[in-house]
Amino acid sequence: MYLLGIETSCDETAAAVVEDGPRMLSNVISSQFDIHAKYGGVVPELASREHLRAIVPVVREALERAGVGYRDLDAVGVTYGPGLIGSLLVGLTYAKGLAVSLGVPLIGVNHIEGHIHAVVLEQRSRGGEVEFPALALVVSGGHSHLFLAERAERGAYRYKLIGRTRDDAAGESFDKVAKLLGFGYPGGPLIDKLAPYGDPQAVKLPSSRMKGNRLDMSFSGLKTAVLRFVRAADLDAEIAERKKFLGGPRLTVEQARASASATTLNLLAAFQHRVIEELLRRAVDAARQEDAASIVVSGGVAANSGLRGRFAALPYPVYFPTPALSTDNAAMIAAAAYPRFLRGAFDGTDLAAQPSLSLA
Ligand code: KG4
Ligand code: ZN
Repeated sequence: MYLLGIETSCDETAAAVVEDGPRMLSNVISSQFDIHAKYGGVVPELASREHLRAIVPVVREALERAGVGYRDLDAVGVTYGPGLIGSLLVGLTYAKGLAVSLGVPLIGVNHIEGHIHAVVLEQRSRGGEVEFPALALVVSGGHSHLFLAERAERGAYRYKLIGRTRDDAAGESFDKVAKLLGFGYPGGPLIDKLAPYGDPQAVKLPSSRMKGNRLDMSFSGLKTAVLRFVRAADLDAEIAERKKFLGGPRLTVEQARASASATTLNLLAAFQHRVIEELLRRAVDAARQEDAASIVVSGGVAANSGLRGRFAALPYPVYFPTPALSTDNAAMIAAAAYPRFLRGAFDGTDLAAQPSLSLA
């Protein structure tokens, strides 16, 4: 069977065709990076306008690359939340129209469940299986959540919320720190590449201790500590110099590195180290507490090489998506829709976009 996945919750217009669950035939992503970069973050109105422009050609390309026609599709899976309302509406409305016109079922997918299923999909495509119950750490620009993911009856999955950020998401903290230091948006990929050139021990940054649920997370204190350090270390001239590049072509890693003092590189290394340790400690404690059989790390921040190295060394089977399926994509949405297709859990055309949809 052929399932078309559609994802438009934030700033990527994405479509993918998946065959019989684990076989990814195509995965097309149109990024709006250049449109939002000059504003230092995603501008919602521009995002929905761009989705509107891109949705038809992106779906067409996904079908072409898969060698599949509209008439071959057996179902359409689409993100209906969480995300930006205007962005969600474009994908959802298009998916509804397509499903009705083809006479195939519509399956609404939670974006966060999609991130988890990116890993399930890839593990299966390698002939393996994620061991459940799995502790799932979803870390992106919008989310930092710890779930226990379990198999339920009739091929369904069940999720229990174990911990979540009380303020910024992990990816958001990467983006804010990068912006603060004049490195532009998004911050994660560049900090990832620059961190190895600094000494993480050279700058002391605070760890967070949570009252109530100790498996919750907080990243806003870390961001404030970085801001204080920047003021005290007198990095303003260097930052102003870098900001001149914003709005122009993206800084290459070499340019960014050349523009950064040893103090800045140390700060970036310490910041990344701190974020990783915060996530690692929660994930390990949660896996122990819930008696998890494996750990799944997904979402944009899962692309971080420092994080991957630290998690891979844990005494658990640890699964990450490949970098292509770490950030937003539609293959993960098709993958999450597949078990719902098998048990006939379809949605009607009254399915509404839910910007604050939660998974558990
Ligand atoms: O999952 P995603 O594409 O979109 C959301 O659902 O938010 O995640 C994007 C986030 C951004 O905050 C970006 O800075 C972060 O993931 N990110 C990274 C890396 N690549 C992307 N953070 C750290 N290291 C990376 N290599
Ligand atoms: Zn995402």
